[in-house]
Amino acid sequence: MIEVKNLNKNFKSKKIIQDLSLTIQENQLTSLIGPNGAGKSTLLNMIGRLCPYDSGQILIDGIEVEGWESTELAKKLSIMKQSNPLGLQISVRELMAFGRFPHSKGRLTKQDQEIIDESLDYLSLSDLQDKKITELSGGQLQRAFIGMVICQDTKYILLDEPLNNLDINHSIGIMNLLRRLVDEKGKTVVVVMHDINYASQFSDRIIAMKDGKLFANDDANDVFQKDIVDDLFDIDVEIIEYNLRKYCIYYGNDCEECLNNTEDVKTFHQATN
Ligand SMILES: Nc1ncnc2c1ncn2[C@@H]1O[C@H](COP(=O)(O)OP(=O)(O)OP(=O)(O)O)[C@@H](O)[C@H]1O
Ligand SMILES: [Mg+2]
Repeated sequence: MIEVKNLNKNFKSKKIIQDLSLTIQENQLTSLIGPNGAGKSTLLNMIGRLCPYDSGQILIDGIEVEGWESTELAKKLSIMKQSNPLGLQISVRELMAFGRFPHSKGRLTKQDQEIIDESLDYLSLSDLQDKKITELSGGQLQRAFIGMVICQDTKYILLDEPLNNLDINHSIGIMNLLRRLVDEKGKTVVVVMHDINYASQFSDRIIAMKDGKLFANDDANDVFQKDIVDDLFDIDVEIIEYNLRKYCIYYGNDCEECLNNTEDVKTFHQATN
């Protein structure tokens, strides 16, 4: 279990995370949603020990994240950041092999190679395994980084916007893969997402953040209420139900503000054409 208790984080004097307390249950897929700048990445990075916090606690299986020995933590928890370093002249397979480092310390065993093969296959990257990562498309690169995290084979998997750059087919493929990691391998997956309909469709729980504070934390279907989504994103949505899951309709919105925006766009086009 991951427990966050009274967590606070400032950047300079700006409060980014304010007195945040929440629990992430094991063997569930939890989506972290909220507007730009809400503090989602900061929270994920603090849980993954990529960023220090000012006060409060983060406990991973009862031990404060700062107290974990690095290799042991890397065997317990993996994290994919929102943006990943580019420019490394390594192949897709070599990138995935980095994920095995906490286990193999650089000497890949037959079992490590099998895990890499399985992940390449899962992510439809087998044909690209020898290609340099600098030569991949945005979506292929995103899948390679997800593959590296999956190769790490940890109990906790944290992914910051894993669907970035992915087409619909690959987005659904990744979400199905994450679901299987939870349902078949007992993993605990936390995903930062902007597409709230994917969050509704695939998550067990949804944590919503706004202005560095907890806004909602409940079963996915319970967070998917019109008043919650409206207030979270300051929009006007319609929630519909299909196959026992709720979906949010936010296109073709005819709220006054949206119409004004449409007029602005028309005026802009008229002025520039
Ligand atoms: N290194 C930093 N130095 C200063 N301010 C930062 C830093 N990192 C993040 N912030 C600020 O902290 C706030 C939260 O940022 P964060 O990246 O956690 O948001 P987010 O919810 O992940 O947003 P997005 O959906 O746009 O990715 C923002 O106001 C951001 O400008
Ligand atoms: Mg972010």
